[in-house]
Amino acid sequence: MNPVQLPVLLLMILSAPAADRLATASPPPDPVQCSSSDGKADCTVSSAYGVFPDRSTCNASAVVYPSSEEELVRAVANATATRTKMKVTTRYSHSVPKLACPGAGDGRGLAISTRWLNRVVGVDAVRMEMTVESGITLRELIAAAADAGLALPYSPYWWGLTVGGMLGTGAHGSSLWGKGSAIHEYVVRMRIVTPAPAADEYAKVRVLTSADPEMDAAKVSLGVLGVISQVTLALQPLFKRSTTFIRRDDDDLAERMPEFGREHEFADISWYPGLRRAVYRLDDRLPLNASGEGVFDFIGFRPTSTLVIREVRLAEELLEQEGGRNNKCLMSTVIRTSLSVAGYGLARRSGWPFTGYPVVGRQDRMQASGGCLTAPEDALRTACPWDPRVRGTTFFHQTAFSMPVSRARAFIEEIRQLRDLNPESLCGIDIYNGILIRYIKASTAHLGKAAVRGESDDMVEFDMTYYRSQDPGRARLHEDVLEEIEQMGLFKYGGLPHWGKNRNLAFLGVERKYPGMRDFLRVKGAYDPDGLFSNEWSDMMLGIASGTPTNNAPGCALEGMCVCSQDKHCAPEQGYVCMPGKVYKDARVCTKV
Ligand SMILES: *[C@@H]1O[C@H](CO)[C@@H](O)[C@H](O)[C@H]1NC(C)=O
Ligand SMILES: *[C@@H]1O[C@H](CO)[C@@H](O)[C@H](O)[C@H]1NC(C)=O
Ligand SMILES: *[C@@H]1O[C@H](CO)[C@@H](O)[C@H](O)[C@H]1NC(C)=O
Repeated sequence: MNPVQLPVLLLMILSAPAADRLATASPPPDPVQCSSSDGKADCTVSSAYGVFPDRSTCNASAVVYPSSEEELVRAVANATATRTKMKVTTRYSHSVPKLACPGAGDGRGLAISTRWLNRVVGVDAVRMEMTVESGITLRELIAAAADAGLALPYSPYWWGLTVGGMLGTGAHGSSLWGKGSAIHEYVVRMRIVTPAPAADEYAKVRVLTSADPEMDAAKVSLGVLGVISQVTLALQPLFKRSTTFIRRDDDDLAERMPEFGREHEFADISWYPGLRRAVYRLDDRLPLNASGEGVFDFIGFRPTSTLVIREVRLAEELLEQEGGRNNKCLMSTVIRTSLSVAGYGLARRSGWPFTGYPVVGRQDRMQASGGCLTAPEDALRTACPWDPRVRGTTFFHQTAFSMPVSRARAFIEEIRQLRDLNPESLCGIDIYNGILIRYIKASTAHLGKAAVRGESDDMVEFDMTYYRSQDPGRARLHEDVLEEIEQMGLFKYGGLPHWGKNRNLAFLGVERKYPGMRDFLRVKGAYDPDGLFSNEWSDMMLGIASGTPTNNAPGCALEGMCVCSQDKHCAPEQGYVCMPGKVYKDARVCTKV
């Protein structure tokens, strides 16, 4: 890209928010697509990104769409009786790892979609509890709670997730207050359908309460225990909140980070290491009678013109090929500036432009968004910015892990050292909103965030999204730097990989990081002794398969399928060879020589 193109890009990006006012989009397709005439057999299962981390999709012999617990029980019983592998899939399927594949994905398993298992079962206004079916999306859940004057205090910011999916992968928002920001901390009851012996008609509904030790397995389960049918959540009276984003340079980020999470109930930090900036979210609860009708409709989740999606990707690819010096920094500056001028999607009233901080609004209108999921169909004129149906769409890796705040301070300092060795090397990540730092508390869930004994329960998650080439053999610009950060976070600092994100190498040795793993496996053995809900991938994640989540094919390190140990794991013909890290010497990263 030459500098003349930049203003064009700027215009396109600035015009992107306007697409929202068109109020149409192309909602994502069902991740299960079947080729039989009734649309229920010979299916492929994929994710919202079109492919799993190894670029594959998987096959299933059939899909069922139960719309009640009875139908769900029948589906599980039917598959158990015939010893058929099965797996739950959701409406949108935003998890990155291959957890939604029934069995080996070889076309013999059954996909059980919770798409129509999405009702509110009941609201208990006195106890402030709401019972929902597991396929309900975060968006529907938030709206139904608000109708009853209630709020889910903490949640992910993207509302295209289901309750079952969020519990399956331990999804969370950002808070150190109360029990922290993970959805599973607010589960008080659960109904889960598991396989059963013939004497019990092949399926069983298990009812768990928070007093039940098995709940610590079921509330973060990777979907390997059975199908969650219903969940009862403890909610709070609806409230308002006040949100302000403040930008500072990142010199004192490591020192401020631990305290900042205590100062504001909904604090988070977006760190742009390439730009040397951090954007702090000052976000606090207000009573419902505070004045303000604000909304937060995050720009990155709005319907985006497919032309813009393509142009931005094209610009990024040109910068990749050029290996241009400061150009990615220029592009990220442009994107940062336009997002910040637009208040990231905050507005004092729905439909208004951003007019300044603070924005005060009801929790249900501020906590999550995802306009690209819900606007009426427009034949792919606009879509979610990562929609795989758009030719030349955004394609990325996601790396996310958490660690106690005490360790995180040193980790941040080491990332800064690495950045200072090559100041432009991290501008690529800033194009994707930088490194999102969210607060979370250690959990009693066996597969939840675990602090090592003696450490504080306060934890932070580092979440980064970055360029992935459509060509698996093509090395990324500054490949080595993000690989080093990934290995440093996961191996030196013992980061716990997010179950719903990450490249395969993140799960190397993960079973040893969870003190509760053995207890989890005991419950798994009791609920699903034949592993009908397991696949090779979940077995590797849980350390019960002999294989590893990685391979050693040529170029494997480029795709996150391995940590390189030989040059051929990188791209020697493009000048990328396997070298030690620059700050974390034990890292092995593909470095351009
Ligand atoms: C039971 O299993 C068979 C074979 O897999 C399938 O064709 C049928 O649709 C299933 N019935 C139910 C209720 O799931
Ligand atoms: C899925 O089916 C397609 C088409 O029949 C086939 O090419 C592919 O290899 C199958 N995938 C798996 C994992 O068996
Ligand atoms: C909101 O309600 C509380 C308690 O009812 C009251 O004390 C307070 O003055 C009210 N605030 C506003 C801004 O109306």
